[in-house]
Amino acid sequence: MKQASAKIIENRQILESFSRTRRRNILSSWLIWLRCPEIAREARPGQFVMVCCGGELILPRPFSIHQVNDDQIALCYAVWEDGKGTNWLAQCQIGDAVEIFGPLGNGFSILPTSGNLLLAAGGIGIAPLHFLAQEALRRDCSVTLLLGAATAAQLYPKPLLPSGIKLVMATEDGTKGKQSMITDLVPDFTSWADQVFACGPMPMYRNMAVQKQRLKLAGKPVQISLEVRMGCGLGVCYGCTVKTKNGLKQVCKDGPVFDLDDILWEEPGNLKVRNSSFLL
Ligand SMILES: Cc1cc2nc3c(=O)[nH]c(=O)nc-3n(C[C@H](O)[C@H](O)[C@H](O)COP(=O)(O)OP(=O)(O)OC[C@H]3O[C@@H](n4cnc5c(N)ncnc54)[C@H](O)[C@@H]3O)c2cc1C
Ligand code: FES
Repeated sequence: MKQASAKIIENRQILESFSRTRRRNILSSWLIWLRCPEIAREARPGQFVMVCCGGELILPRPFSIHQVNDDQIALCYAVWEDGKGTNWLAQCQIGDAVEIFGPLGNGFSILPTSGNLLLAAGGIGIAPLHFLAQEALRRDCSVTLLLGAATAAQLYPKPLLPSGIKLVMATEDGTKGKQSMITDLVPDFTSWADQVFACGPMPMYRNMAVQKQRLKLAGKPVQISLEVRMGCGLGVCYGCTVKTKNGLKQVCKDGPVFDLDDILWEEPGNLKVRNSSFLL
């Protein structure tokens, strides 16, 4: 883990505002490139960094490493209407320095025997999967990405995706791709896939866990990236603890990537209401 004063190379809006009934509104989604050679060198797909979001904020905020290019890393982030840190980050200018530390967490693992990888991204859940797709292509794996959002305007821009993947899109309102949740597309690819990787809202994971038979996921290795509120990101505050079949785990240290089967989805209070950002 390295600490860096990372200079901003680029910070641009990639998606518009998104109003949602009964859920937190997203003002916009952004892509930021940061020069931080020490972190870029060590980063693996599925890991994250903690960003000190300036101003009066004491706690740093976690963001998945979205891409790596030489000595730079990219983050892809949603700016929440009531989000102090993400609003601050979106105000930062090229040339500003941002204090960050990482890479943190375990990251995804591609099995040496896996040739066909199915990636399922719900909304901003594309954040860690982009880097994973690039790594998989580098290893000559075939990658199918299921990309979902509530509506077409909220779909991550296709030109920003790595070339060489097979892309299948779905929107809840049918404005682009198939009108469905991305989990509904999963069964079409499960016999092809050697491994499944998902990043999205907690209901998506629950759905995958509870409906494994229907989704034809039984017996398939499925890795998910959990998003919970974090205090320190370093395994110190225990604010990110979740209940798993192997006991209590800290998402920042033991995760954020877990096997879908390891999480106790039916345990009352486990992961309750902590699940907001990766919402469709
Ligand atoms: C490992 C990991 C990786 C992440 N990667 C990304 C990423 O790549 N891109 C991205 O956009 N986001 C990502 N997130 C989520 C991101 O950290 C939060 O959206 C961010 O911290 C919000 O900060 P904020 O200061 O803008 O909001 P805050 O001011 O902290 O919060 C605003 C309001 O939202 C609530 N809130 C904030 N975060 C959460 C939460 N996680 N669950 C429930 N309620 C919450 C607060 O209680 C408050 O009411 C990740 C989270 C984790 C744990
Ligand atoms: S965020 Fe502090 S222990 Fe995980």
